[in-house]
Amino acid sequence: MSSQAMIEVVGLGKSFATPGGTIDVLHGVDLKIAAGERVAVIGTSGAGKTTLMHILGGLDRPTTGDVKFEGKSLFSLRGAELDAFRNQTIGFVFQFHQLLQEFSALENVAMPLMIGGMKKNDATDKAAVILEEVGLGHRLSHKPGALSGGEQQRVAVARALVRGPQILLADEPTGNLDSVTSAEIVALLNQMHQTRGLTMIIVTHNNELAGSLDRVLRIDDGRLVGDNLN
Ligand SMILES: Nc1ncnc2c1ncn2[C@@H]1O[C@H](COP(=O)(O)OP(=O)(O)O)[C@@H](O)[C@H]1O
Ligand SMILES: [Mg+2]
Repeated sequence: MSSQAMIEVVGLGKSFATPGGTIDVLHGVDLKIAAGERVAVIGTSGAGKTTLMHILGGLDRPTTGDVKFEGKSLFSLRGAELDAFRNQTIGFVFQFHQLLQEFSALENVAMPLMIGGMKKNDATDKAAVILEEVGLGHRLSHKPGALSGGEQQRVAVARALVRGPQILLADEPTGNLDSVTSAEIVALLNQMHQTRGLTMIIVTHNNELAGSLDRVLRIDDGRLVGDNLN
């Protein structure tokens, strides 16, 4: 691991206020991840994995602690700065792809580029190139509802990576897929890692996926209880 971690998590805690009282979901998580590392996050349902991913990606704020990217503190950024940093640096893939149903595959992938200020024609051209790369060059004008689960996840991977982030965060990306389709998505993610040198953090219950990565973190009851190299 290089002397400066790509991602450093320091004393991360997260509590939620609920009508029944405060729930402490993460308890002082410390973690360093090197550039280009592929990390699996495993643990039982309710352990805090999604909460951790949302904070790592700047989608939610921690109650205590911080996340640093190349030494830069994420949560010292203000709203608009945080949004801009996140959009450039981090791509997300979720279990349920969260594609926009009324838009085509091409439009879904072009959207983050247009939000980033790119002209529609350029964004569309670039989206078509990455959809080709994920094996969907023949499905550009299909809407999500007309695609298989695996194809929808390929679109989600293309959308996550179209702006060229250094980091990919995926929360149970194969959780909704059969085993054959899961294996194809695992292969795609590893291909994207190889061609782009991505740092990847992937929450999974899929042993094949966890075993194909470099390192496995185990979360239990909001604590990091295991950290093993494969
Ligand atoms: N917004 C929220 N408000 C209250 N409790 C939450 C919220 N988000 C998550 N939790 C609780 O935090 C715990 C961990 O949830 P989560 O991070 O989704 O776990 P995992 O992804 O490991 O299944 C659960 O008990 C969940 O109910
Ligand atoms: Mg979860």
